[in-house]
Amino acid sequence: MSLLKEWYDAITEAQSVEKLEEIRISVFGKKGVLAAEFAKMKTAPNEQKSQIAKELNTHKSSLMNELTVRKITLQTLELEKAMKAEAIDVSLFSSKSEAGALHPVMETMDRIVEYFSSMNFAVKTGNMVEDDFNNFEALNLPKYHPARDMQDTFYFKDEMLLRTHTSPVQIRTMMNTKPPIRMIAPGAVFRRDYDLTHTPMFHQIEGLLVDKEGKVSFANLKYILEDFLKYMFGEVEVRFRPSFFPFTEPSAEVDISCVFCKGKGCRVCSKTGWLEVLGCGIVDPNVFEAVNYKDVSGYAFGLGVERFAMLIHQIGDLRSLFEGDIKFLEQFQ
Ligand code: DAH
Repeated sequence: MSLLKEWYDAITEAQSVEKLEEIRISVFGKKGVLAAEFAKMKTAPNEQKSQIAKELNTHKSSLMNELTVRKITLQTLELEKAMKAEAIDVSLFSSKSEAGALHPVMETMDRIVEYFSSMNFAVKTGNMVEDDFNNFEALNLPKYHPARDMQDTFYFKDEMLLRTHTSPVQIRTMMNTKPPIRMIAPGAVFRRDYDLTHTPMFHQIEGLLVDKEGKVSFANLKYILEDFLKYMFGEVEVRFRPSFFPFTEPSAEVDISCVFCKGKGCRVCSKTGWLEVLGCGIVDPNVFEAVNYKDVSGYAFGLGVERFAMLIHQIGDLRSLFEGDIKFLEQFQ
């Protein structure tokens, strides 16, 4: 029985859960010391048997008890050790995580769309590869009309071309919808231009409202554009200047008081105090005739999204919006 004593010590001295498992097998296994002790009972004198069995069973349960207690202690110690080794030092610098953001042109486009959607304008898209009829002819820009010179573009065969403006979406929409119409058309347009303020591809947003004859006036147009420009630029002055577009009559160009100098006159506004931001007018009867609309009236407008983005973010060179320079773009996140 004294043999069992050393196993109590072995359990207390065991330094790992694995070692403890070895001990458990040596004590409680089929060929373990307890099994051997019980086996010895067979040869013991009969009157001692019950006493031996009693003692052995007491040792059996207290050894099991010791094993369980030691196992819990060792497991706790091992867990603490592992937690210490894997601990995260929250005061250390982490590797930088980069968050993506919208390009300033797209962000500006979204804001403009947001305004007109809230005014119940539907959002339409046309085709970037357009035909001569939709891009020019139906917009009162017949072949050889001098106004076509301002919109030179890239041509394919069969009178197909890259659209020079979003105005053809007016035509496409009117051709397959009955009036009334309230729409905007955001999208990319193309021209053969490249300098400080022009790129071969840029974005426009077109607007068109058509209703019964006599229902749409220049006053309606003026109201919505003033409200829109204040939404985009805050408290600015808005001015309408008579102008010419083949698809509107009368036509106007719209200026806002310079956002850089508050109208005092600076380099950006060429000392005029005003910045031109869009074109608009009352839809020319020839346009309605081209799409077979009768007894209607309407207004239209068109604007360049990059120009808006440049004024909102005070960007000097339009081309920088197309270079994909991360350092430049990060400023607008
Ligand atoms: N399409 C014109 C351009 O690209 C912009 C424009 C001006 C659109 C007046 C309009 C408008 O609808 O009424 O220069």
